[in-house]
Amino acid sequence: MFITFEGLDFCGKSTQVKLLSDFLEKQNKKVNLIREPGGTLISEKIREILLDKKNSGMFEDCELLLFASARAQLVREVILPKLKNNEYVISDRFHDSSFAYQGFGRGIPVQFINDLMKFVISEAVPDITFFIDIPLEVISERKKAIAALELDRIENTKGDFYKKVREGYLYLADTEKRFVTIDGTKSISEIHEIIQNKVLSI
Ligand code: TYD
Repeated sequence: MFITFEGLDFCGKSTQVKLLSDFLEKQNKKVNLIREPGGTLISEKIREILLDKKNSGMFEDCELLLFASARAQLVREVILPKLKNNEYVISDRFHDSSFAYQGFGRGIPVQFINDLMKFVISEAVPDITFFIDIPLEVISERKKAIAALELDRIENTKGDFYKKVREGYLYLADTEKRFVTIDGTKSISEIHEIIQNKVLSI
């Protein structure tokens, strides 16, 4: 089974990814945990370029294609072989992030992103995608608590970027059957229980 997690930065998804992975491992399932961008030697190198604050001059189109390159390698090197082997793959972000961040957030035509992503992900279509949704005010609060120095290039984007990214996710939640939207203001254990029950029900 291929499970992906999506949401705005600071929504708490990485905590939930770890909790689900631990839960499945306790049930003796073979689980592969990956994060995007990254997850292979080549993709991690691309991640460094993408998140490096020194690269503030990066154009949106370059950004999209770098995310796509990192993902193309990850799909072919890790995700497809593991799925063929009947193992679980859990990814902290996947192609929906490109739709929401580069499409709605940066304004690149979403039809083009959809076509590009079809090519990039090939047969690796997630079975289920958990979207952890939190209000923008909560994000601002959490962001304020982190020293500006520690924010990466994308987290440093100003203006109504996150508002647009969230609209992208809400659009996907409305149109994609595999999407499960979870209220990210619930407690960590409540959210974990919802996710755990959903995975067990499939
Ligand atoms: P990361 O530190 O992994 O953030 P998080 O823990 O919130 O996932 O950084 C990834 C950043 O890259 C994050 O701001 C979201 C962004 N991103 C995109 O813009 N497009 C993409 O396709 C992906 C995978 C990530």
